[in-house]
Amino acid sequence: MSLLRIDDVTVQFGGITAVDHASFEVEAGTVTGLIGPNGAGKTTCFNVITGLQKPTGGRVHLQGKDITRMSVHSRAHRGIGRTFQRLEAFGSLTVRGNVQVAFDIHDGVRGLLRAPAHRADALLERVGIAEYADERADAVPTGTARLLEVARALACEPRLLLLDEPSSGLDEAETEAFGQLLIELAAEGRTILMVEHDMDLVMSVCGMLHVLDFGSVIASGTPNAIRGDAKVQKAYLGYSETEHAGETTREFDEPVTAEIPAAGR
Ligand SMILES: Nc1ncnc2c1ncn2[C@@H]1O[C@H](COP(=O)(O)OP(=O)(O)OP(=O)(O)O)[C@@H](O)[C@H]1O
Ligand SMILES: [Mg+2]
Repeated sequence: MSLLRIDDVTVQFGGITAVDHASFEVEAGTVTGLIGPNGAGKTTCFNVITGLQKPTGGRVHLQGKDITRMSVHSRAHRGIGRTFQRLEAFGSLTVRGNVQVAFDIHDGVRGLLRAPAHRADALLERVGIAEYADERADAVPTGTARLLEVARALACEPRLLLLDEPSSGLDEAETEAFGQLLIELAAEGRTILMVEHDMDLVMSVCGMLHVLDFGSVIASGTPNAIRGDAKVQKAYLGYSETEHAGETTREFDEPVTAEIPAAGR
């Protein structure tokens, strides 16, 4: 049985269909990618999975249990954790303080910063930002702030971790180390579903990919299968989105010459 199953989920915002009868599964202990062009509905899918967005139709199952009507809090309690595309850390607290607060919330402790510093520091070490522990969270580089989000999510010991564009702002070496961390987390039994635009990262760490385009799942498969999929190449490469007279249309940026890169390791 898969850990997560999205069944025929649709989300409409007024006249916009952000997610259109999407179905996909995520196996336990894997790193799975949810990819697709800007506006494809990826973040909206995450919001449906975490309970922030009520779907217009369809169901969400976690370990075979229907959680479609469950609150955000109950889902978190059942082990769904996430990071946000927009950064959400407490800017006036230190990097360490932000992780301590996450531990406190997870532990159900009243009052802030009760979790011991060394517990937070171990997580900061793990995600590779220990050197920033004493800095204010609003003063660190974007990449560091993203890794802080991952550390805060990990403090809650999620079974299923949803990452929304975690690598933006990371340099090449940081991205490589981050990919390694994801592989380790999966090997320890955590399940990761990642929205990510860095195709090198996606292709090298994900065992399975689901591709969204205009809210629909247009392909599901291994990175190799997805790389060779004509529909995916058409949806993904050489197009840009432009707003024109209130309508979203796709135009060619330049001739389609790029290829989805081969797996890095
Ligand atoms: N709260 C909302 N109200 C109205 N429309 C929305 C809302 N949230 C998202 N949308 C629209 O739904 C569609 C899907 O948006 P979504 O943010 O899920 O895409 P995405 O795949 O995460 O894109 P990106 O790669 O740019 O983050 C877009 O057309 C977006 O404008
Ligand atoms: Mg998004």
